[in-house]
Amino acid sequence: MPALAGQVVLITGASSGIGEATARRLARAGAKVVLAARRLDRLEALAREIDPTGVTVLVVAGDITSEADRRVLVTEALKKFGRIDALVNNAGFGTRGALEMVPVEAIRRNFETNVFSLLALTQLVVPAMRERGNGCIVNIGSVAGKIARPLSSIYDATKHALEAFTDGLRGELRPFGVRVALIRPGFIQTEFIAAADKASDQYLANVGPYAPFWADTRAGVQKLRRVAGVPDDIARLVECALRSDNPAPRYSGPFHAKIFLLLKWLLPDRVFEYALRLKK
Ligand SMILES: NC(=O)c1ccc[n+]([C@@H]2O[C@H](COP(=O)([O-])OP(=O)(O)OC[C@H]3O[C@@H](n4cnc5c(N)ncnc54)[C@H](OP(=O)(O)O)[C@@H]3O)[C@@H](O)[C@H]2O)c1
Repeated sequence: MPALAGQVVLITGASSGIGEATARRLARAGAKVVLAARRLDRLEALAREIDPTGVTVLVVAGDITSEADRRVLVTEALKKFGRIDALVNNAGFGTRGALEMVPVEAIRRNFETNVFSLLALTQLVVPAMRERGNGCIVNIGSVAGKIARPLSSIYDATKHALEAFTDGLRGELRPFGVRVALIRPGFIQTEFIAAADKASDQYLANVGPYAPFWADTRAGVQKLRRVAGVPDDIARLVECALRSDNPAPRYSGPFHAKIFLLLKWLLPDRVFEYALRLKK
């Protein structure tokens, strides 16, 4: 899909942060965008901003973890635009807390949103792309898909899973002309931290013996704020992947993300953990 003009791109998690910036950027490039998330008011405001006539934009509010909502999303997109050229799997959130203190149900919820719903939505759009011999799937992973941290193992594991799924799918779909890429954002200023705090409040209220780790984690987040990127840094990478006939398997950004990933690749695990103060 070298040119984006007229292409239909479905973006999950478009009500804020990276998804919202991606929708804006792709719409500016001439794409028709399908905006999905739960917060209807936010999606409608974005749609009005992108195209007040509503001709090139569609809002479909729903919960990505609901099978019925996923089906409605794809059906509505096809009804309005006739096809889906690209899917940007972006919706996600983080659960934090010491593994022993987070109920399995909460762990399942995080995997349900970040992994299973993403797989299921992908299953809904792939057959038509495969039959047309054209299409693109862009998954929003994370540096956390390569680097797992204390008190974040649940979220980080969801993003590790996404790495494997993306690699496998890329090989499966290559013979059919469907491209698959993974984006690994570093720390980006969005509503992500607020959403993670909200999802994890009860597990973080009393971290008990993990208090020193938690203090380290908070300090680390504060430090990272200084180098944090903006959502458009990642939207730019999504656009780059979508515009390419042969996208890179992985894109990472902003700059600090590349450095973290390079160090992770270069250094022995013990040295890396020590350097990042991941070790108690
Ligand atoms: N910010 C970072 O530092 C960072 C770093 C690496 C990776 N990422 C990844 O980037 C992606 C976007 O995150 P963000 O930073 O832009 O955070 P964000 O501002 O919190 O956006 C998350 C989006 O996901 C949607 N979402 C969450 N749960 C959903 C559900 N059950 N059903 C439908 N939509 C749902 C939210 O919409 P509603 O609440 O309206 O449903 C929202 O639009 C995530 O996959 C995240 O893991 C972020």
